[in-house]
Amino acid sequence: MTHPRLNTVEAALIFISVAQLSTALKCVCQLCANNTCETGADGACWNSVMLINGKEEAVKSCLSPAEMRGQVFCYSSRNVSKRNCCFTDFCNNETLHLHPGYVERPSEEPGWGRLELAAAILVPSALLCVSILLGVCVVQGQRCAYNRAHKNDVEEPLDDQSLMSPDKCIKDLIYDMSTSGSGLPLLVQRTIARTIVLQETIGKGRFGEVWRGRWRGEDVAVKIFSSRDERSWFREAEIYQTIMLRHESILGFIAADNKDNGSWTQLWLVSEYHEHGSLFDYLNRYTVSVDGMIVLALSITSGLAHLHMEIIGTQGKPAIAHRDIKSKNILVKKNGTAVIADLGLAVKHDSSTNTIDIPSNHRVGTKRYMAPELLDDTINMSSFESFKRADIYSLGLVFWELARRCSVRGLQEDFQLPYYDMVPSDPSVEDMRKIVCDQKLRPNIPNQWQSCEALRVIGKLMRECWYANAAARLTALRVKKTVSQVTVLKDIKD
Ligand SMILES: Nc1ncnc2c1ncn2[C@@H]1O[C@H](COP(=O)(O)OP(=O)(O)OP(=O)(O)O)[C@@H](O)[C@H]1O
Ligand SMILES: [Mg+2]
Repeated sequence: MTHPRLNTVEAALIFISVAQLSTALKCVCQLCANNTCETGADGACWNSVMLINGKEEAVKSCLSPAEMRGQVFCYSSRNVSKRNCCFTDFCNNETLHLHPGYVERPSEEPGWGRLELAAAILVPSALLCVSILLGVCVVQGQRCAYNRAHKNDVEEPLDDQSLMSPDKCIKDLIYDMSTSGSGLPLLVQRTIARTIVLQETIGKGRFGEVWRGRWRGEDVAVKIFSSRDERSWFREAEIYQTIMLRHESILGFIAADNKDNGSWTQLWLVSEYHEHGSLFDYLNRYTVSVDGMIVLALSITSGLAHLHMEIIGTQGKPAIAHRDIKSKNILVKKNGTAVIADLGLAVKHDSSTNTIDIPSNHRVGTKRYMAPELLDDTINMSSFESFKRADIYSLGLVFWELARRCSVRGLQEDFQLPYYDMVPSDPSVEDMRKIVCDQKLRPNIPNQWQSCEALRVIGKLMRECWYANAAARLTALRVKKTVSQVTVLKDIKD
């Protein structure tokens, strides 16, 4: 028997929870500034605990509506992980535990009053859970039947257990992520990061070191930030997990993790590992054939076009400007295609309010690759288009580095950075401004490029990317189309 007053209280609580569902919530968040985060409308507070190396590790954060819809099961009761979503401000403040030993036991003399109370709470709750479970089973059953009928059409939602099953490899995880829209659940990311064995350093950039690591017998790249650069770590992880960002020409992000070892916090970003390293490394080492050049140019431009493109709809993506396009931030895959990496400086466009998601400091990229309007500070910061056009200028310079290494009849140029013959090795903004804005100089296009159709087209494209007038530059989509036509032309000739 349930107590009538409790029923009323329960109904009121459910009503409050439902009402809260449609508004933004404040939640406890260990990874956020002030330990607080805010969900969007229809989000939830997330509270979880997982057994890692025999120790309970708690994660508290905000859940976006997309995460709630797509990939996270809010409830579980396995003895290796426990998860909970709730819908009132800071409701995830309590600490979950896995083992009954952690749970405070009630005092010795329960008495009938308590028992009654417990029954009054438990019975309706149990009934509610059973009906929810039944509901889920029915929906799930229908979905499975539908999926069997439409194999590969629809993806199952993901749960931590299936995501972390021992036979999963990196490709599977990346596939899981692409079907879920944004990234893996935080707990899965943390578990992956903490089972990586670091092997050797492979590079050093402005924000820390990059390592090759091993996870389940496969190579991964781990970018380790110092706690000083926490904002960069957070921003890069955030951008990589932008809904629907995944693309074959964007570096495959796997996980972000912050590990406190007592005296400092290590911040990790885990991504796919590409043994050729950056395009800068690759072109320094190798020349490329005409086909090789086109494949690289096409994949780089596809990646940039995907970043720049806004996709509208619930499963859409905002337009993103990279702001640090250069040969060191492009990686070369084993199959000869490229991916765009280092999204830490990127900005997202909110088209509904026509605003950019972070206060943007316009001089953030690499000086050598900065567009003239950035160098002389004439960029129109209120227009998001401006940032895309600045990316296109840098893309033109990358094409120039690439085309120089294209070997035709045994002839090619040595590898050089753009403006290598006009500015010192670590140029200042002023050095660059004099050359690019005042003297209006651009990298030299060798005459012999005219005698090879592909090089002639790429040479023309780069000129149209680095016009002083930003509005006259080509769009990424236009560049992509022109490069793909070179491939088609070649195919026809072959
Ligand atoms: N996923 C990866 N796979 C293989 N090598 C990588 C990967 N990510 C980075 N690297 C290597 O590590 C180097 C350092 O990368 P990082 O992004 O930290 O700095 P950078 O691009 O060289 O300079 P900057 O800080 O200006 O971006 C790269 O140049 C590349 O050689
Ligand atoms: Mg970089």
